[in-house]
Amino acid sequence: MKQRKVTQQQKSHFKWKRKVYAVLFLGFCFGSLLLMQTQYTRILALASLQSRFVQKPKIAFLFIARNRIPLEIVWDAFFKGAESRFSIFVHSRPGFLLNKATTRSEYFLNRQVNDSIQVDWGEASMIEAERILLRHALEDPWNERFVFLSDSCIPLYNFSYTYDYIMSTSTSFVDSFADTKEGRYNPKMSSFIPVHNWRKGSQWVVLTRKHAEIVVNDTSVFPMFQQHCKRRSLPEFWRDQPFPADPAKEHNCIPDEHYVQTLLAQEGLEGEITRRSLTHSSWDLSSSKDPTRRGWHPVTYKFSDATPMLIKYIKDIDNIYYETEYRREWCTSKGKPSTCFLFARKFTRPAALRLLNMSMLGASRKAANES
Ligand SMILES: *[C@@H]1O[C@H](CO)[C@@H](O)[C@H](O)[C@H]1NC(C)=O
Ligand SMILES: *[C@@H]1O[C@H](CO)[C@@H](O)[C@H](O)[C@H]1NC(C)=O
Ligand SMILES: *[C@@H]1O[C@H](CO)[C@@H](O)[C@H](O)[C@H]1NC(C)=O
Ligand SMILES: *[C@@H]1O[C@H](CO)[C@@H](O)[C@H](O)[C@H]1NC(C)=O
Repeated sequence: MKQRKVTQQQKSHFKWKRKVYAVLFLGFCFGSLLLMQTQYTRILALASLQSRFVQKPKIAFLFIARNRIPLEIVWDAFFKGAESRFSIFVHSRPGFLLNKATTRSEYFLNRQVNDSIQVDWGEASMIEAERILLRHALEDPWNERFVFLSDSCIPLYNFSYTYDYIMSTSTSFVDSFADTKEGRYNPKMSSFIPVHNWRKGSQWVVLTRKHAEIVVNDTSVFPMFQQHCKRRSLPEFWRDQPFPADPAKEHNCIPDEHYVQTLLAQEGLEGEITRRSLTHSSWDLSSSKDPTRRGWHPVTYKFSDATPMLIKYIKDIDNIYYETEYRREWCTSKGKPSTCFLFARKFTRPAALRLLNMSMLGASRKAANES
């Protein structure tokens, strides 16, 4: 009897316990459902926020200027509407201040690097300026490509076309070719930079983030250039006149036309570059009949030169011939034949404004006027 009573008591006890568990379990289910519901709406909200403000990779435009940006109106029209996809950094001479008095474009305000150096008669100072710009631009983790531009460069296409062209490949664009006939290679470098790694090419390169880091991190090739490229001449960038033709007078390895190219060859990274420049420069060959002096005098286009025909001519170029390597580079983009150039130089302000006025630059006068 006693035994049964206990069992019944136990049974009712169990029943009661089960009820409590059931209630607890239901409560838990309900609670977690509620929680999931709120989390779910939060996740949905986050996802829609993200798709609305998703940060695309940016292109850093790195301007090397003497003082102000003379063609800022053209660039202002180019950048308009692309706000989240680019950043700008300007290297002007120390002491010059890019402020409301010296720029009319909000895009250039406060974009000057604060540790610029004097780039003039300077040995390796031009490439140091490039490294300073890269150092600043790398601080923004969204910058994925780094485009060097001079203060006389113009964009040939609109922003979206330019962006897609540059981002559609994982390579850098670096004009780079072997050229040892010129005597710019200093044999004193040979223990560290073998002559087969010596490269020449335009300084107006487009680098991937990896290659930008390699340039900034470089502690071996750069000192070689500083040490062995003593020069008393103007960098190409400043040269408006044919170069004085007396190589005996100066040891001249023109760092800005060799450094990035040679560094990437030295690091064994030439497989990661498209070996051509995206910036068109025209060289005045008529000023010198001596072939060894060729390429010393980049043409500056003035108002009367700035015609639709000129722009069409530059935009239609679809291959580049490298004489010293007997290499013809057929330009491609996204795996298809394409035109070669996105930028061109050197243009005076009146010339660039004229082209902008004619809507020849992938940026309209209207956009420029709105700013
Ligand atoms: C220059 O700017 C950087 C940020 O880009 C800042 O950290 C640094 O302190 C500044 N240097 C000077 C000398 O103002
Ligand atoms: C940008 O330029 C390209 C090529 O010229 C053109 O196909 C495209 O429609 C232009 N896009 C805009 C937004 O103007
Ligand atoms: C450059 O140096 C930084 C800091 O030391 C390092 O985090 C980065 O991986 C280096 N980049 C390359 C490509 O070597
Ligand atoms: C731009 O075009 C307008 C007419 O459309 C003309 O009046 C003006 O002078 C032009 N400006 C330049 C710099 O060519």
